[in-house]
Amino acid sequence: MIPFADTHVHLLAGLDDGPPTPDIALAMCRMLVAEGARHATALAHQNPDYPANDAARLRAAAAALAVTLVDKKIPLSVYPTGEIMLAPNTLDEWRAGTLMSVGNHKQWLLVEMPHSGFIDALPLAEALKPEGVRLIIAHAERYPELLDDLALTQKWIEAGCLIQVTARALAEPWEPGFEAALKRWAKGGFIHLMGSDGHGIDRRRPVLAGGFGRLAKWLGRSHAEQIAGAWGTAVLQGKPVTVPAPRAGGRRWFSRLFGG
Ligand SMILES: [Fe+2]
Repeated sequence: MIPFADTHVHLLAGLDDGPPTPDIALAMCRMLVAEGARHATALAHQNPDYPANDAARLRAAAAALAVTLVDKKIPLSVYPTGEIMLAPNTLDEWRAGTLMSVGNHKQWLLVEMPHSGFIDALPLAEALKPEGVRLIIAHAERYPELLDDLALTQKWIEAGCLIQVTARALAEPWEPGFEAALKRWAKGGFIHLMGSDGHGIDRRRPVLAGGFGRLAKWLGRSHAEQIAGAWGTAVLQGKPVTVPAPRAGGRRWFSRLFGG
């Protein structure tokens, strides 16, 4: 069994709405190991609610956590990462060096939508492409504009984006239509990475295994291991990641429906 990589977990104590203390962060790390993870983002929000969270602050906090994990013999490698809220100045902030890429490798930015609502990620994806930087769409299942539009998701993937889905949403989809949409994404090859979006040990716990189980049921074990393990590990370590193109937006059921 390949170790899991949690590509979205808040582990930097006191830096955002994640673990309030180093002890809780360590307890989350132990939970992740018990879930089967050996790699995880040491992540905090980068958005106007947390103005002090610049790249240097995240880098220092992640490095301190890594030292503690070695001291405590907890077998989890952590990678500094910002959860970047998209804004009109995201490109400028990236160029100014305030944003933290995934693992500090300057290859991937983990981005989420602004509080004000869904926006088109394509202009930023296109602007970053010449710099060798690509986007990961954080907890992409939250956005029905994307989840329910395979053609749009495909466009973003063709522009270099990877799609990250929350393990708990896969394990316990809260509504049949939502589950059907996730399954359609999974089977069409639209899901590339899994994250727990863990924030603590009481609520929003860092769970992964249930999500993996659901992916394995839908896709078979080896494809599920790529999503929950191999691709995420490569992203966190700054190694090349090649994902297959998704199957063209909806054409398969379109054909089935209309006999084409
Ligand atoms: Fe998050």
